[in-house]
Amino acid sequence: MIDPKFYSDFGDRKIPDLIDGFLEIGELRSIDDVLVKIADITAKIVECDRVSIFIYDKKKETLWTKIAHGVADKIEVPKDKGIVGWVFLNSRELIISDPYSDPRFNKEIDKATGYVTKNILAFPLKTYSGRTVGVLECINKLDGNFVEDDVKFVKILSVYAANSIENALLYDEIKRTQDEIVFRLSLAAEFRDETTYNHLIRMANYSYVIAKEMGFDEVWCEKLRLAAPMHDIGKLGIKDQILLKPAKLTDEEFEEMKKHTVFGYEILKDSDIEVLRMASNIAIAHHEKYDGSGYPYGLKGEQIPIEARIVAVADVFDALTSERPYKKAFPVEQAVKMIEDESGKHFDPNVVQAFKNVIHKILAIKKQYE
Ligand SMILES: [Fe+2]
Ligand SMILES: [Fe+2]
Repeated sequence: MIDPKFYSDFGDRKIPDLIDGFLEIGELRSIDDVLVKIADITAKIVECDRVSIFIYDKKKETLWTKIAHGVADKIEVPKDKGIVGWVFLNSRELIISDPYSDPRFNKEIDKATGYVTKNILAFPLKTYSGRTVGVLECINKLDGNFVEDDVKFVKILSVYAANSIENALLYDEIKRTQDEIVFRLSLAAEFRDETTYNHLIRMANYSYVIAKEMGFDEVWCEKLRLAAPMHDIGKLGIKDQILLKPAKLTDEEFEEMKKHTVFGYEILKDSDIEVLRMASNIAIAHHEKYDGSGYPYGLKGEQIPIEARIVAVADVFDALTSERPYKKAFPVEQAVKMIEDESGKHFDPNVVQAFKNVIHKILAIKKQYE
């Protein structure tokens, strides 16, 4: 049972403000927007000048400002330094009315920014699972000093902030794990022949910028970036004497080699993960040609999945402009000309057009991952 006094102590205006704030937060989708909103609501309800939200960086063992009212640059402090560090390590709130006489207070930030800190309320951001993920800091109560009632409000808001941060961190970690596993899997397939790590990075990024130019949305383009490096994963199923043969393949051997498309599809198909499903389309169809003269099925035009039509241009352009043990790299102008000449034959004309439109971006990527 909640003591009614708990509410009346806060005054009449704050509860509606808090409810409105939570309703607004509910509409937000991105972690950044949520935290900005939490900082704004906190400043309004506890009536202070500035609010900062620090997030703990496990790798660097620092706390850094994700959100900081009135400060443009990111502030980063060691996890055991200053008021924020103390609150983080002890997982306890702190009200300080005379920071300059508190040895924990770091005067350097005020000195650097010209701001004068008069009082502080700092609160640990603890998740439901009890993990402390950061610190919420209120600075300079507009009227007088921070009081215990302010702490109660901050506590309510801090739980929300903490769980938003934890969700975002978990999501980020899952995504990074997934990306890296997928990329290293692609690398495993490329390991046996001369293809390099940089080839995969370049052709993935070329595919991304071409798709963007063609008007696909960001989520789709990101998936394509991740799926593209798996185009040759089926080479895992090709025998060494064919895959590594230093001379031209016989017709029979080439027929074997063509099977890497089908093998790739077999490895990747029927997954619940969309990226892998997209990758299976790319694996099976990245050697199909727009005019129907490609393999393995001789698909034509729109029959070829668009992701494979994009990857075909990105992959071939990178192959043309890269040196391989058996061939020199073509100059960029010549490679672009060769792609253009194949528009409507090997390649989808729309993809070739988009490729030409973003050639400056493609060359920048090429330079970055030479
Ligand atoms: Fe291939
Ligand atoms: Fe390739």
